[in-house]
Amino acid sequence: MLKDITESASSKITVATSLKELEELRIEFLGKSSAISLKMRKMGALNEEEKKAFGKQINDVKTIITELIEDKYSLLKEAHQQEQFAKEKLDLTLPARNHKKGSIHPISQVTQELLEIFVKLGFEIKEGPSIEDDWHNFTALNIPDHHPARQMHDTFYFEENRLLRTHTSPVQIRAMMNDTPPFRFISPGRTYRCDSDMTHTPMFHQIEILMIDKNIHMGHLKYLINEFIKQFFEKDDIEIRLRPSFFPFTEPSAEVDIKIPGTDRWLEVLGCGMVHPNVLSNVNINPTEYQGFALGMGVERFAMLKYGIEDLRQFFESDKRWLNHYSFSAFDIPSFIGGLTR
Ligand code: DAH
Repeated sequence: MLKDITESASSKITVATSLKELEELRIEFLGKSSAISLKMRKMGALNEEEKKAFGKQINDVKTIITELIEDKYSLLKEAHQQEQFAKEKLDLTLPARNHKKGSIHPISQVTQELLEIFVKLGFEIKEGPSIEDDWHNFTALNIPDHHPARQMHDTFYFEENRLLRTHTSPVQIRAMMNDTPPFRFISPGRTYRCDSDMTHTPMFHQIEILMIDKNIHMGHLKYLINEFIKQFFEKDDIEIRLRPSFFPFTEPSAEVDIKIPGTDRWLEVLGCGMVHPNVLSNVNINPTEYQGFALGMGVERFAMLKYGIEDLRQFFESDKRWLNHYSFSAFDIPSFIGGLTR
């Protein structure tokens, strides 16, 4: 009898093909209503001797069947797993889908290029606030109240005495008020004027440069301009000229023109000059002891010249086609080692 059960279990377990089927067989042969359990329940009627002998037989059969089930379980489990693996297989050799994640705007790129040049020449980077007051933006820069230059700047005013800076020159004042000479720094940033047409946007970018020390003269200024223009355009034969001009905060003042290659035309690219003694006095620097030069330039203008961008207004329109065309890779930051120009 027990032998029949063992044989029946063995043959059924051998041909089982799924874990579910195997579980059903476990219930059939070892469960509460299995033939074995029924026999065990009837053991009470036997005497001690018989109980012992029969109990052992039953246990042996249970052990055999349990082992058969366990072995089969391992086999089926393994097979099931292999099947699962096959189903879930990932082809890792497939190239990842290409999704472009944003890029560097030409304004940021050109700012970075210019900073790289000046930092290498020993200039620090300094920044100032977009919201300024009258004194820093005008008065301290030798532009007194009711001076015509104030009207020329088309200033955005908040309540009294607060305004959006019209140029980066107030950073000169903040830097000099906060420290003692010598100074040698470059300051990039946003500037604002209430002006909007083909060649003006209400927000634009400037870079300010200031150098104050003893015995500084225009020769140093001219050398610096020559040097950075050559480095920026990565050309040695660029012709530049300094043309006398006027800015309230410099004396003498000059505008710098670049000759457009292959033409007789000159293009104005920046303003500069020797810092006015009044400006130095305003920030408590003795102009007979210290002097220096300042430069201010528009970043957009330099970006347009270097990368052949025609329309100023498109810089700020966020047109994706324009950005795709004119922007730069975020992994390709300008440096002297990697190159400044793209
Ligand atoms: N701040 C002037 C402007 O916005 C530019 C400028 C000219 C800055 C001459 C300077 C300078 O530092 O020396 O038009």
